Amino acid sequence: MASSDSTTGIERLIRSNLVTIGGYTAGKSRETVAKHVKVPAEDIIKLDANENPYGCSPRVKQALGTYPYFNIYPDAKQTELRKLLQGYTGVGAEHIAASNGSDQLIDLVLRLFVGSGDEVINCVPTFDIFRFSTALCNGKLVEVLRDENYFVDVSAVKRVISEKTKIIVLANPNNPTGTPTPQRDVLELVDTGVPVLVDEAYVEFSGETVTQLVSQYKNLMVLRTFSKWAGLAGLRIGYGIFPPNIADYMLKIKLPYSVNVAAVVAVRETLADIDYLMDRVRAIVAERERLFGELNKLKWLKPYPSQANFIFCDVLKGKASEIQQELQNRGILIRYFDLPLLRNSIRISVGKPEHTDALIKVLKEIGERAA
Ligand SMILES: Cc1ncc(COP(=O)(O)O)c(C=O)c1O
Repeated sequence: MASSDSTTGIERLIRSNLVTIGGYTAGKSRETVAKHVKVPAEDIIKLDANENPYGCSPRVKQALGTYPYFNIYPDAKQTELRKLLQGYTGVGAEHIAASNGSDQLIDLVLRLFVGSGDEVINCVPTFDIFRFSTALCNGKLVEVLRDENYFVDVSAVKRVISEKTKIIVLANPNNPTGTPTPQRDVLELVDTGVPVLVDEAYVEFSGETVTQLVSQYKNLMVLRTFSKWAGLAGLRIGYGIFPPNIADYMLKIKLPYSVNVAAVVAVRETLADIDYLMDRVRAIVAERERLFGELNKLKWLKPYPSQANFIFCDVLKGKASEIQQELQNRGILIRYFDLPLLRNSIRISVGKPEHTDALIKVLKEIGERAA
């Protein structure tokens, strides 16, 4: 007889650390939201997942439409892909391993280093996948609070290093706050000798990277992605720059075909259209500064300067959840937080200028009503 009782069914065989795991909360799709609001899916303005509002290069769409070999498995060794990434990053292919999005690389790196009870140092508040993947490995998250402007407290990180520390993880710029970590701080952490994983998902918007330093250190690893700057979030392609011995391990422990052929075609075409895409990156950075100025004029929000393609704001008056809901009802999606370390705050991805205009119009109406 079927049983849903967790003490008698197959659930009792599930690894005990996973029974109570808190999952990662991903954003809702436009189609899901459209069922609950009076705005058609195609008109919903998506400013909740730091996606690229301009989409991918037109060359990607064209190449995928005529690609003849979807029936053939991708190259598990990633030979062409790693060469392409060598050309883009200027770092030798022997340092590079790619995967199905950089979040999967976070997971793989943690699996490589972290076993049951091992410690992972995380500078919070930050990207939640670090917590999630540590929990999957049954590791112990050692959280170090960022300062009041969300900068990393390097001395505090160094103080919590123990024999059980396996890795320090660091999103730079940080998500959701957009805060950069200066290179000297990253290197101070690297100098401890502990493996340091720097997640540079937004590096094309910040312009600050430690990628070129990976070849000088045995314990520095950098993750990057095509999701944000190249508009390929839906195709899932991320990569890491590692010391060569670690890159070899990454290639060994990944599932063989974790990068699909469509993603490889997309990388090839993206890198052949770099000027077009970098123009869009510049447009997003310019729009970020305009959005910051507009948000700053609203006295009930406190925006934080950002080096990424989103802006984080404290909500000084009103409730973040209600602001998010009101915007959603009007067809504009943003993220809100009301967590112990992220009280009453919102994160807005940078869209096109018309998206900023639509957002600010609704925010002004909300502000006037509350006044
Ligand atoms: C800091 C950070 N790392 C990684 C990712 C995931 O990127 P990908 O789409 O490559 O998995 C994100 C996405 O929001 C992010 O904010």
